[in-house]
Amino acid sequence: FIPPAAGGAGGGVTAKDELGNDVSVSQFTANRNPGDRSLVQGLKGDPTYLIVESKGAVGEYGLNAVCTHLGCVVPWNTAENKFKCPCHGSQYDNTGKVVRGPAPLSLALVHTAVQDDKVVLTPWTETDFRTGEDPWWA
Ligand code: FES
Repeated sequence: FIPPAAGGAGGGVTAKDELGNDVSVSQFTANRNPGDRSLVQGLKGDPTYLIVESKGAVGEYGLNAVCTHLGCVVPWNTAENKFKCPCHGSQYDNTGKVVRGPAPLSLALVHTAVQDDKVVLTPWTETDFRTGEDPWWA
């Protein structure tokens, strides 16, 4: 038996919407513009951003939305093309890299893969491509 979510370091989950239903990639991307970042429930139930690439396609990484300062969920600001934490003003660029404190670290990455129109999320254990360093969350 080969599990359908093979790849990554194991521990994969299917992204869920706010009602706990599996996110359909075709529906998720149908009414959103490329570059949009929208929340789903991800690994361990954490709020996680998926990135719309095009109709039917999401980016190959997702971003854990939990601020690395004190844990607020960080909203995406389309007009400014960055994430801005409402709690104490931390900012992250569109890849989730921290660009303004007090947050000490960038938003955690997760891998995404599309299978049967669903999004499978798996832990990101490799180098953080934004910093060139080991992932602080793994
Ligand atoms: Fe986000 Fe403090 S929790 S800046």
